[in-house]
Amino acid sequence: MMSLRKLVAGNWKMHGLSSDLAEVRTIAEQAGGYPQVDVALCVPSILIERAARAVPGFAIGGQDVHHAEKGAHTGCTSALMLLDAGAVLTIVGHSERRDAQRESDADVKAKAESGLSVGLNVILCVGESLELREGGKAVETVTGQLDGSLPGDLHSAAELAIAYEPIWAIGTGKIPTTAEIAEMHAAIRARLHDRYGADGARVRILYGGSVKAMNAGEIFSIANVDGALVGGASLKAGDFIPIVAAAAAVEGAAPIA
Ligand code: 13P
Repeated sequence: MMSLRKLVAGNWKMHGLSSDLAEVRTIAEQAGGYPQVDVALCVPSILIERAARAVPGFAIGGQDVHHAEKGAHTGCTSALMLLDAGAVLTIVGHSERRDAQRESDADVKAKAESGLSVGLNVILCVGESLELREGGKAVETVTGQLDGSLPGDLHSAAELAIAYEPIWAIGTGKIPTTAEIAEMHAAIRARLHDRYGADGARVRILYGGSVKAMNAGEIFSIANVDGALVGGASLKAGDFIPIVAAAAAVEGAAPIA
């Protein structure tokens, strides 16, 4: 089985003030000790520019992007604005936005394409509710989300990552079984193959939802888990860096194109 270089991305959600820039610095500095892993922090948009200046060369990202290039969209942030502020990536389609902001698959696809069009890397989130999981519909829900929200052509596999985040695992301390994660990531991989051909084998698939230092090693050893999207445990270096270390400890990670 081919193994991809792991990506461990933190999603700070609506956390982070100027006083937290010291933590960004600590995380970037300590992540430098694991050059075999790609590490990124997606911070609130208003903090991106200061975070990017604080840690040159370290990947700072946004958490959402508007689909339009510019225009009358009060309160929104365009892809060029993110790039201009120093971001190198952005999350799109997080379940908290799909839910609270009523974002559809088509919206998420347009956002992903907008980010890619200016050269941002994109982490595209998918995931099922507990009700759908319990109803045996998890895989069909997630593959349906992918069908509706995957961007068109890719320039390279490295610019896109998929984050599988079961909604019921986010911030709850509950995680799917190893077999459930393996089944879902295999289904996502198959969809990526169908859509992107050979490149589909090299798009990274991250797991997200209650990833902590204590469960990261086991999660990273599952087939087709190429990293993690981490919420709560990404806010402090003391919680986050052990997750990066767990990714570094997984055997056989090879560079992606
Ligand atoms: P937690 O790691 O806090 O469960 O959050 C996961 C998440 O939503 C990352 O985007």
